[in-house]
Amino acid sequence: MAMQKAIKITKNIYWIGGNDRETDLFEGLWTLPKGVSYNAYLINDDKIAIIDTIKSGNLSDYIERLTSVLPAGRTIDYLIVNHMEPDHSGSIRMLRHLYPEMKIIGNKKTVEMIEAFYNITENIIEVKEGDVLDLGHHKVTFAMIPMVHWPESMVTYDTTEKVLFSTDAFGGFSALEGGIFDDELDMIHYEYEILRYFANIVGRYASPTQKAIAKVRTLDPRIICPAHGPIHRTNPKHIVDLYDKWSRHDTDEGVVVVYGSMYGNTKFMTDAIARSISEAGIKDVFVHDVSRDNLSFMVADIWRYKGLVLGSCTYNTELYPPMAALCRSLSNKMMKNRILGICGSYSWSKGALAELQLFAEQSGDWTLIQPSVEVKSCPTEEDLDQCRLLGKNVAEAVKKHFK
Ligand code: FEO
Repeated sequence: MAMQKAIKITKNIYWIGGNDRETDLFEGLWTLPKGVSYNAYLINDDKIAIIDTIKSGNLSDYIERLTSVLPAGRTIDYLIVNHMEPDHSGSIRMLRHLYPEMKIIGNKKTVEMIEAFYNITENIIEVKEGDVLDLGHHKVTFAMIPMVHWPESMVTYDTTEKVLFSTDAFGGFSALEGGIFDDELDMIHYEYEILRYFANIVGRYASPTQKAIAKVRTLDPRIICPAHGPIHRTNPKHIVDLYDKWSRHDTDEGVVVVYGSMYGNTKFMTDAIARSISEAGIKDVFVHDVSRDNLSFMVADIWRYKGLVLGSCTYNTELYPPMAALCRSLSNKMMKNRILGICGSYSWSKGALAELQLFAEQSGDWTLIQPSVEVKSCPTEEDLDQCRLLGKNVAEAVKKHFK
């Protein structure tokens, strides 16, 4: 019977990962319309090393690819565990079962997690920053990048061929659709999925990401092999620059407008705001219905653009629940230095605008643009003029930033 095959990256380094197009929600939260890849790698040398396993449901592809390049009669000598989130560590127990002599390599925190997740305590080698593992021709070293994305996260660097196995850093959503390398793929499509992954998974840890990027620039890798998404062999600097930009909270000129509306009155207000932003000369204006659009797309767009307008109806005297969830998520991501406009509506009890004002106050260095607009039931023409003024003022503040 035919089986999946490993894909060669260099003479002796292979991709042995898999594509997941069945999981609807990554981490049970983030929609995956184009799937996701779980990348794992094999170095075939005097000693054979594997970098990471795979989510348990995708084990068969991984084992088929792995065994397609494992020389007859050979075992796996080392399993290097860069990251313990189960999308990568989920098959450790099965791999240990198949290759009982295999030594597992991880740092101090990894070792603790392997016991907590999989009750494995034996045949483990603990490594620290800068340790070198000699595989024969290939010498690999380890660098810690804590909180990108968990505390134990580390990268493995093959100093012989200058190949960086970068775990979640530089990763992205989307399955790999035939091509696995940046030069084989339409990177415009992938870059949006990389942004969506960064903003939702790694973005909260922007500051640790900056530290990781400083280390990676020192290593100067020729090829970057992340744990998700394309392998960057043609332009590795580009993906480092993108992650650098996003983790510095550097934004593009544009405004995201998000509304929560039960019967269309708040939407009426944000439609007027979006139109006035456009009339003020901003081309990138993206409008989201907070009830219908997946949080991951809203967070990605908000991460990318300088301006944000939030409009919400009042629900049971409070902020509309899906808008409250968005605000909570934005607070959790600790985005910096955005330009914000807010508006709200109510009928028999106020609530939404006050909560949006509180969100603005608690968002650190965000700039709240006036007027904040609050409407009773249905906007009057005068109310809509206030909305238009808010949109114009937001647009002008955004344009001023990019002058
Ligand atoms: Fe792809 Fe944090 O795991």
